[in-house]
Amino acid sequence: MPYSAIAGTGSYLPKRVMMNQEFEALVDTSDQWIQDRTGIKQRHIAADGETTSDLAFEAAKAALESAGVAADEVDLIVLATTTPDKVFPSTACLLQQRLGIRDCPAFDIHAACAGFIYALDVADRFVRTGGAKCVLVVGADTYSRILNWEDRSTCVLFGDGAGAVVLRASEEPGVICTHCHADGRFEDSLHVPSGISAGYDQVRAEAAFIQMRGNEVFKKAVSTLDTMARETLASHGIDKKDVTWLVPHQANMRIISAAAKKLELPMERVVVTVDKHANTSSASIPLALDVAVRDGRIQRGDLLLFEGFGAGFTWGSGLVRY
Ligand code: ACO
Repeated sequence: MPYSAIAGTGSYLPKRVMMNQEFEALVDTSDQWIQDRTGIKQRHIAADGETTSDLAFEAAKAALESAGVAADEVDLIVLATTTPDKVFPSTACLLQQRLGIRDCPAFDIHAACAGFIYALDVADRFVRTGGAKCVLVVGADTYSRILNWEDRSTCVLFGDGAGAVVLRASEEPGVICTHCHADGRFEDSLHVPSGISAGYDQVRAEAAFIQMRGNEVFKKAVSTLDTMARETLASHGIDKKDVTWLVPHQANMRIISAAAKKLELPMERVVVTVDKHANTSSASIPLALDVAVRDGRIQRGDLLLFEGFGAGFTWGSGLVRY
């Protein structure tokens, strides 16, 4: 069976909903500004002590259930996150333990908001080359932990969440193609300036929070997503009119609308969750996918285009027959 296909989807959002209005007491902003510039109305925030693996566990359980797959059938776990529970072991290993799975390979992918596309790409390659038959592909992040709550240009943009898919070996594609890219020259446009190797003193000196030149990221995201969508469709001779649903990374409503316009797709065929979830980084694409599958918009046989763009810069796409 040379292909992989999505057998089931799942997602999880923390219980606490934080509305835009709550930021008005924290920084110089307004609900109006946030909605006008981003389309965001609210986001979910993890409870004290609730970690990325907790979110991933709930999303993974839901995906396994919807696929009708028992946890012990999973023979690979690929988890995209940039907010792991621990430096090590990987969050994928923590998830494996929580699910009671033994022996299968499990590892994290670190590609910011393009993380789920990278994870899907890797998982699909494992299946195509016979290295796995049933893969749990997860995107999970708790960006509330790496936000500077005094920086209005970033703190209003993100939320916490997790999404998952079960990929199974299949006679038919399934995953038609994936494309991944990176350009490290844009390191400083969007980053958390210090990590563990800088030493804990540096991290404690408030260098452990997101910093972003939003306008620069915005422009690059819009132009890159257009090029990438054209490249992806052309690689398989698919006309943009044949795409049933665009399921983009959810960072900003204006970026999503621009991508849809370039593809000449009406907004009725774009899955939008940024208004309710804000930017959940690695989780945003599988979360949006799961929402649209469960509410009946996405049907078996639909042609889906996934697009992600994030820090690195990293970006990627996936064309999937659901
Ligand atoms: N409330 C009120 N005013 C604000 C806020 C806020 N929350 N944030 C910024 N402003 C102000 C700025 O200070 C600036 O004021 P000034 O003109 O007096 O200097 C003004 O608003 C305009 O700022 P811009 O940054 O030019 O606003 P822009 O229209 O670009 O919107 C935004 C900002 C929403 C961040 C947008 O640039 C964006 O969405 N960028 C892309 C984000 C993204 O896609 N990230 C990638 C994925 S994330 C990842 O990989 C981790």
